[in-house]
Amino acid sequence: MRLPLSAFTFSAIQVAFCAPLNLLNVYDIQGTRFVSPYNGQSVNVTGLVTAKGPSGFWLASVVPDTDERTSDGLYVYGSNSIASVTTGDVITLSGIVQEYRSSADYLFLAELTSPKNVVVVSSGNPVKPLLLGVDRSPPTELYTSLDKGGIFAVPNNQTLLEVANPVLQPALYGLDFWESLSGVLVKVTNPIAADKSNTYNDVWVTGDWKKTGTNARGGLTITADSNNIPDVNPEAIIIGTPLDGTKNAKAKLGDKLTDIVGIVQYTFGFYYILPLTGVKVVSSQPYPPPPTTLTSGADRCTLTFGDYNVENMSPKSAHLPVVAGQIANFLRTPDIIFVQEIQDNSGATDDGTTAANVTLQTLVNSIKASAGPGAQAYDFVNIDPAPGNLDGGQIGGNIRPVYLYNSTRLSLFRPNAGTYRDATAVSADGLGLTYNPGLIDPTNAAWKSSRKPIAAVWQTTGGQKLWTVNVHFSSKGGSSSLHGDARPPVNGAIAARTAQVQVLTDFLSSIFAVEPNAKIIVAGDFNEFIPVSAVYDPLLAIMHDIDEAAGIPPVERYTYNFDMCSEQLDHIFISPSLVPKIEAEHIHVNTWDVDGGASDHDPSVGRAKLC
Ligand SMILES: *[C@@H]1O[C@H](CO)[C@@H](O)[C@H](O)[C@H]1NC(C)=O
Ligand SMILES: *[C@@H]1O[C@H](CO)[C@@H](O)[C@H](O)[C@H]1NC(C)=O
Ligand SMILES: *[C@@H]1O[C@H](CO)[C@@H](O)[C@H](O)[C@H]1NC(C)=O
Ligand SMILES: *[C@@H]1O[C@H](CO)[C@@H](O)[C@H](O)[C@H]1NC(C)=O
Repeated sequence: MRLPLSAFTFSAIQVAFCAPLNLLNVYDIQGTRFVSPYNGQSVNVTGLVTAKGPSGFWLASVVPDTDERTSDGLYVYGSNSIASVTTGDVITLSGIVQEYRSSADYLFLAELTSPKNVVVVSSGNPVKPLLLGVDRSPPTELYTSLDKGGIFAVPNNQTLLEVANPVLQPALYGLDFWESLSGVLVKVTNPIAADKSNTYNDVWVTGDWKKTGTNARGGLTITADSNNIPDVNPEAIIIGTPLDGTKNAKAKLGDKLTDIVGIVQYTFGFYYILPLTGVKVVSSQPYPPPPTTLTSGADRCTLTFGDYNVENMSPKSAHLPVVAGQIANFLRTPDIIFVQEIQDNSGATDDGTTAANVTLQTLVNSIKASAGPGAQAYDFVNIDPAPGNLDGGQIGGNIRPVYLYNSTRLSLFRPNAGTYRDATAVSADGLGLTYNPGLIDPTNAAWKSSRKPIAAVWQTTGGQKLWTVNVHFSSKGGSSSLHGDARPPVNGAIAARTAQVQVLTDFLSSIFAVEPNAKIIVAGDFNEFIPVSAVYDPLLAIMHDIDEAAGIPPVERYTYNFDMCSEQLDHIFISPSLVPKIEAEHIHVNTWDVDGGASDHDPSVGRAKLC
């Protein structure tokens, strides 16, 4: 970006008669913190035009300073001035520095507004992007110095970043790094998609730089360091709408993309790169994934189990036969399946229906059809929720957790189904449950607007007893952006999930009290990541995470993609007596799929030795 000085000086002399006073550089305006030291002030600026967009253009420092904290890029907002500049022009202009955001929960973008008095000092100067991974590289673990105790620490929203306005530490913190490049023209070589594109064809990527948490598919998994400080992947960046009016191609997790040149810009709650032109897909990875290797065969000591959030499934759902095919061909019909988000027989129609037997019969018939000639249909059990949309989810849908089970392999022990009013408990003789299946403490305030877990006790054909709980905890709705103002970010409904784990743990403890070596499997959509210790600590004091027990590499522990992360919302926890010989797999039929798949979650399969 350095100019031949003679050309600049000569041109500067040409315009000297009207030379602006107090001419600032771009880096002066950006300063060393998040908020510009010139916020709200009228300024005169000189800069090199690096890119033009539909509503403004971007300037670089004519001669960058050596301070990495002070960004050498600046957005000039105002469409009236776009026509007066060309990329490669060095200009002077005046304007007002303004920190802009479209939501109070977002960070500010420093921009020069009301641009006036644009004077082209010289033209045809070279414009060279900063090469990410070579000139500068993002940190890989932490977001800001303000996330004390980690990005998921409790309590959250203790500090507002823009109020604290810390001095940037771009070598340590992701938000500081991207802020220090605000408005800068950058290049990403060999980008890989870290998620599927969103509906605007924006896509999260990483490039040729150091990354941590990379999974075999090319995404970045949420992991934790040895102090259980979560690594939530600040090294990824989202590619937004191209500046030239073209569109990005639709990409999916792990796709290799064409090199990207674009401007770093905070918008819609995240640091983006706005590419000069549409990004294309170079190559994709194979789909579908291999089916599970975990089957039970004829061994009566072995039990296979699946866990699957099937996303708002009603009898008429277009994805029902797809999910059924996945259960038959990719999960290979486990002996028992913990299913979440089964809707009632009328789906999302809010007509007072709560029964789901038609939904479930349609699903098990479809699985049987997919499994081929001679296949046996699953049996199912569930408990209809109370009427009145009290359990959250899509209004009228009445989603609930459900068991599908193979009656040749296992059956309910002393069956006695409860209703939504009944709390199940260990029976007086300590052998079973008062309601089987039954809900766990359904009137406890912890379950307000959420699904009540369904507990059951089974006996296998091999004569073994097995206790199960199928859960679907409160969702993360209401969370704030990881690139947002609240630090640590708001983790929506974390208080509810914390309370829910406690009620669950108390129930499990009541089983251990009568049967210390009980074989227990708890599975479902916990809507929370394992490194969030505030939620999981009580449960992990008595149960084991199957991913850990089965030795699944930490980077391969994911069942969901969200923004920059491959992440695990769905978990299986097992009691200590099941730990020996336990096996587990996540089947990425949906996170790897181009359309996001049949459900937003991936299913999982496990295999235990009961004898
Ligand atoms: C910008 O330069 C003009 C002269 O062109 C001067 O009148 C004005 O005061 C300068 N603005 C600032 C903020 O220094
Ligand atoms: C249930 O298990 C039996 C015995 O292993 C098997 O033949 C049958 O196909 C299984 N049913 C389902 C639904 O997978
Ligand atoms: C669903 O349950 C209702 C009421 O018990 C029954 O009349 C109906 O036949 C059931 N439908 C199916 C498909 O099992
Ligand atoms: C964080 O807390 C502040 C008060 O300090 C509040 O104004 C803001 O709305 C909160 N942010 C979120 C995302 O809840």
